[in-house]
Amino acid sequence: MYLSIDGIEKSFIDDKNNKTKVLDNINIEIEKGSFVSIVGPSGCGKSTLLYLIAGLEKADRGNIQITGKKVTKPGPDRVVVFQEAGLFPWLTVMENVTYGLLLKKMPKEEAKAKALDILKMVHLSRYVDSYPHQLSGGMKQRVAIARALVMEPDILLMDEPFSALDEQTRMVLHKELLDIWRKTKVTIFFVTHNIREAVLLSERVIVFATRPGKIKEVIPVPATKDGVMPDSVTLHTEQRILAILQDEIEKVLKEEMGDDYSFKTDHLHRDDSGDMGSHI
Ligand SMILES: Nc1ncnc2c1ncn2[C@@H]1O[C@H](COP(=O)(O)OP(=O)(O)O)[C@@H](O)[C@H]1O
Ligand SMILES: [Mg+2]
Repeated sequence: MYLSIDGIEKSFIDDKNNKTKVLDNINIEIEKGSFVSIVGPSGCGKSTLLYLIAGLEKADRGNIQITGKKVTKPGPDRVVVFQEAGLFPWLTVMENVTYGLLLKKMPKEEAKAKALDILKMVHLSRYVDSYPHQLSGGMKQRVAIARALVMEPDILLMDEPFSALDEQTRMVLHKELLDIWRKTKVTIFFVTHNIREAVLLSERVIVFATRPGKIKEVIPVPATKDGVMPDSVTLHTEQRILAILQDEIEKVLKEEMGDDYSFKTDHLHRDDSGDMGSHI
């Protein structure tokens, strides 16, 4: 298997010095070139798992292997895209995107040509000389994606990359990301709390239970040959995932609200965006 996550356990020590298990016995096998999403309520350990794959955190137990090689530290084969673009404000779009290549001592002209190819893919070739503050949120996130892709990673690790964007911008970026995925064949590991987003983008949705985070169910997303899914199929898959998550959302609300908790399951209607809300 290409990316193999095997028996992962991870605990953190909280502010009161208690050890809390965040991830419990996580096992996932991911094929090269696939697009996998993780959904689950906030705090269920999605980002922690992504950081473990990135090599930014260490597991207490278990292994993560890429083509049979154990992940022990960050590497150029895995690049992370975060919710905040995290661009250097004093550098132009072109300079932000070529930054990593120049660090690797690639000749400047070659780096620029490569960056321009990728910036075309995210439709930003007209903005190479702009600075981040001159760009919209969606454009900044495109630069972040271009900066990641220019390094030619094998695995793109995306942690709620579109969560801060408005719905229209998000839809455009969904399409661009799918085009990029098909063109580059990069393996994408995508964390989101937006069920619709997970269903629209990925081939497989891993639904997490919380406290501790563990895999509750893995839902394959039906696909047509042309990649266009009838709304009824998408909606059905979304509803299936929401039903699986309902208990978990309840659990979080109960713990967070304590005695104030008075919601009933049937108050948890999905909104039109398939978003579980910012605090859950
Ligand atoms: N470095 C850390 N130190 C202590 N606790 C952490 C740390 N990172 C995450 N946590 C805790 O682990 C849990 C899972 O966090 P996280 O992986 O960020 O969840 P998610 O991305 O699903 O919202 C949370 O309760 C969070 O407070
Ligand atoms: Mg997170």
